[in-house]
Amino acid sequence: MTDSTASTWDWLLFGILPYIGIAVFVVGLVWRYRFDKYGWGSRSSELYEKKWLIIGAMMFHYGALLAIAGHVLGILIPESWTEFFGINESLYASVSKYAGGFAVVLCVAGLAILTARRLHNPRVRSATTWTDLMTFIILWIMILLGMAETVGYNIFGPGYNYRPTVGEWFRSLFYLQPDPSLMVGAPTIYQVHVTIAWLFFALFPWGRLVHAFSAPVFYLTRPYIVYRSRAAAHIPNPGTSRRWQTIGRD
Ligand code: HEM
Repeated sequence: MTDSTASTWDWLLFGILPYIGIAVFVVGLVWRYRFDKYGWGSRSSELYEKKWLIIGAMMFHYGALLAIAGHVLGILIPESWTEFFGINESLYASVSKYAGGFAVVLCVAGLAILTARRLHNPRVRSATTWTDLMTFIILWIMILLGMAETVGYNIFGPGYNYRPTVGEWFRSLFYLQPDPSLMVGAPTIYQVHVTIAWLFFALFPWGRLVHAFSAPVFYLTRPYIVYRSRAAAHIPNPGTSRRWQTIGRD
């Protein structure tokens, strides 16, 4: 533990809370999979309303995937690695500003459509649980804070290179040598964003967010399903056909 300036509070928020969040996330996912396997999914509301769901979900998910790619590049990958591949800080900052800005605007617009649909469509609203409500609230907080960082701080504001602080702190958690002092000098908005992130991860296993782990990507490569008509005219010998038959009757 290399820290000498972090207070008890900093240790609680940036040294202990992350491990609680990660533990609830991992144990919660295993528990849910083991004991609520049939409840695992997106609890799709497509049957109640389709048009706005498609528009909102497309925008939200593409924006979120781009933002996740940005987090991997900016937080998981050390600055020295991107520099090795010829991406210097100013090139990184421009990509992060414009690709990140595009991602977050797409995400916010998508989430706004999904929220409006959930509030205004009576059938969708009545299928909304407390966990859904909390998921929406925490997503809004996280995404607006992310937007304030990218758009407010880095596009229109003074800019902040978070890779040597937030990025290094984040990786220190996974080396099991947490260093909260790296977060002490970060702007408050970044401190709040990462703190709420652990609440987000703790909430993740209990609601519809788990569908992120069962996205149907194999649909792209699986064999076609062959559908055959059961119309009597096409069945050569109805007596021996594989049609549905009432049990107990020959
Ligand atoms: C502890 C985990 C996390 C860390 C360390 C982290 C850190 C950051 C940082 C440093 C930025 C600023 C990026 C920039 O200005 O270019 C950012 C932006 C953002 N974050 Fe996070 N974040 C975390 C988790 C999350 C989660 C869980 C969500 C969503 C639920 C989220 C959503 C966003 C969004 C939407 C943006 C702005 C979009 C973008 O620039 O691509 N973050 N985050």
